[in-house]
Amino acid sequence: MGPVLGIESSCDETAAAVLDASGTVLAESVLSQESQHAPYGGVVPEIAARAHLSFLPEQVRRVMAGAGVGFAELGGVAASGGPGLIGGLIVGSQFAKGISIAHGVPYVAVNHLEAHALTARLPGLVAGGAEFPYLLLLLSGGHCQCVAVEGVGRHVRLGSTMDDAVGEAFDKVAKLLGLGWPGGPALERLAAGGDPRRYAFPRPLLGRAGCDFSFSGLKTAVAQEVTRHGVAALPMQVAADIAASFQRAVAEVLADRAAHAMTMMRNRAPDARLLVVAGGVAANGAVREALAHAAGAAGFTLVAPPVRLCTDNAVMVAWTGIERLRLGLVSALDFAPRPRWPLDVLSPAS
Ligand code: KG4
Ligand code: ZN
Repeated sequence: MGPVLGIESSCDETAAAVLDASGTVLAESVLSQESQHAPYGGVVPEIAARAHLSFLPEQVRRVMAGAGVGFAELGGVAASGGPGLIGGLIVGSQFAKGISIAHGVPYVAVNHLEAHALTARLPGLVAGGAEFPYLLLLLSGGHCQCVAVEGVGRHVRLGSTMDDAVGEAFDKVAKLLGLGWPGGPALERLAAGGDPRRYAFPRPLLGRAGCDFSFSGLKTAVAQEVTRHGVAALPMQVAADIAASFQRAVAEVLADRAAHAMTMMRNRAPDARLLVVAGGVAANGAVREALAHAAGAAGFTLVAPPVRLCTDNAVMVAWTGIERLRLGLVSALDFAPRPRWPLDVLSPAS
């Protein structure tokens, strides 16, 4: 099989990558639209769609040139087909279909969540390769779930958030603290100078059976603490202590939920030994540390891919295309992008 081009445009990153058939990255590029959305404090779907339309051709040209590959030599073209913001999904999917038609290469509509899930199988990340089944903890701005990854197209959701996604909670608390958007990285920097024991914020669902998540109560508790300090800007140290205490609460909750998920995973698959994290929040040092500890205690190994592979990127999309093409799974050109596309309704043939 020839190299595979991957396209990611489901949210606010316009990304393209070319991988050879064995999964080696030949070229990749991620363009964040952060500066376009920052003035609005979050992603504006219409701005995102227009930005994808303007930036994608250049991103694709750049990675194809970087990889030294012509379109007709491609073994396939894969694009995130959902879930995500419909405008961006349409841009990426139509672009991929255009390449497929013009150059006669197979098209693969990739489920963005499956792309996060299969990242751990990229060559070189786990010694000997991450074998199915493994446990995935997806911790992003839009998704928060525990998934048993049992094969390509074979995923079982063990638990998910009952309200906010964990990245969303970071973003909302960061906003309360007067930090910019996206809030997670700024909050982590602020927390570095704070005392995580100063505020005893709630740990929602801690110890509860299963591995669902909830963050709205924690966010409300932070909001109440901030309000208690009145309308003036928070003193720097108070803000840092709130950030550190919030981050500690999240890390403890995630470790607890992961521990329950590992028990559930072990009941499904006694040989499962890997806990893989993905999504932007997996970049957080306190979260990684807490999860590594929980994994060790349960006899699992934590696999935390490099941050650029945890956040949205096209390498994971191209890789998922390769995994699917190897199984002969090609998508029809009338595939309609799906704003909602839960991971556990995928079938190997979809
Ligand atoms: O996976 P991602 O890049 O995009 C999607 O949501 O799909 O995740 C972005 C989320 C944002 O909510 C951002 O605030 C959060 O990940 N994030 C972090 C950190 N870096 C990114 N949260 C906590 N600590 C971080 N260092
Ligand atoms: Zn994502």
